[in-house]
Amino acid sequence: MKFRKSLLLSFFLLCALPSLYPVSLAERFKQSGYVEICDETHGTDVFGSLYARFDALIEFLQTNPVWAQKLYVAKERFIRTKDRSFYSTDFFGFYDESEREGRNQISFYYSTHFHEFICSHYSEFNLVPEITCFFQACLEIQKSYGNLCAAAAAELGIEAIFASSSGHAPILFKVVKYLPSYVAIRPHYDGAAFSLFLDSTDNQSLLLSPYKSSFTIDDFFSPPREFPRGRNQNSILLIPGVFLTEFSIQPTPHIVVQSGQTRYATIAFAMRPNYTPHQSKHSPLPSFRDNL
Ligand SMILES: [Fe+2]
Repeated sequence: MKFRKSLLLSFFLLCALPSLYPVSLAERFKQSGYVEICDETHGTDVFGSLYARFDALIEFLQTNPVWAQKLYVAKERFIRTKDRSFYSTDFFGFYDESEREGRNQISFYYSTHFHEFICSHYSEFNLVPEITCFFQACLEIQKSYGNLCAAAAAELGIEAIFASSSGHAPILFKVVKYLPSYVAIRPHYDGAAFSLFLDSTDNQSLLLSPYKSSFTIDDFFSPPREFPRGRNQNSILLIPGVFLTEFSIQPTPHIVVQSGQTRYATIAFAMRPNYTPHQSKHSPLPSFRDNL
């Protein structure tokens, strides 16, 4: 259940999937919950640098809470602009949950529109290297993945979900740092059309399951990787989220289990422009807390 191809070629090859693979993308989501893609453009060099910049940003915002507050105010203003509707979410910016029991993680939700909004409305941010360097790294890395999500939607025959005046898929780019104290509680479904698990310093901790009518914790497994994480290569997993339910594509539940180590990860969510999520009910998910 893997694509033997590079990210650069993925757009064209995804389009050619019906002739290359007897099993459709929809069927592979149903059978495995994911497909693996080889990313030959972003390996450990690129993501290692991103995580170093993220650490610098965390250090800066934790020691300068005034700037964390400024970023929060900028986010609150941004979600009242029309650009917010391109993403159909309010998740943008910095979320420090390092002290919150169970969560014990720090995330940043980046998007190009949020970046542009900050540059144009808060010029003082442009003078803070910890912010500009991190934003620049996010901008460069996330560029490749819009086409990949568009190709996946085309393969499923639902390319219209990304239709908008912007002419491309809305990508919400998340960088997250799990602290050693992080505890896994319960799997979840992503509020997105697709999620691309781009990179992680610990792939083994990510467990998922194809969709079922009921789940136990034994259904969740760490997908075997055909493309090892290396300097110039990476393994990406593509999974469906809850924004595709109306097309009879069920979301893939997943969880990051605790490892007792610091874990960095990067995810690109493909959102839906001007979308109001349906109140669809999905199968309940089992608690991993009882398994501790
Ligand atoms: Fe998730």
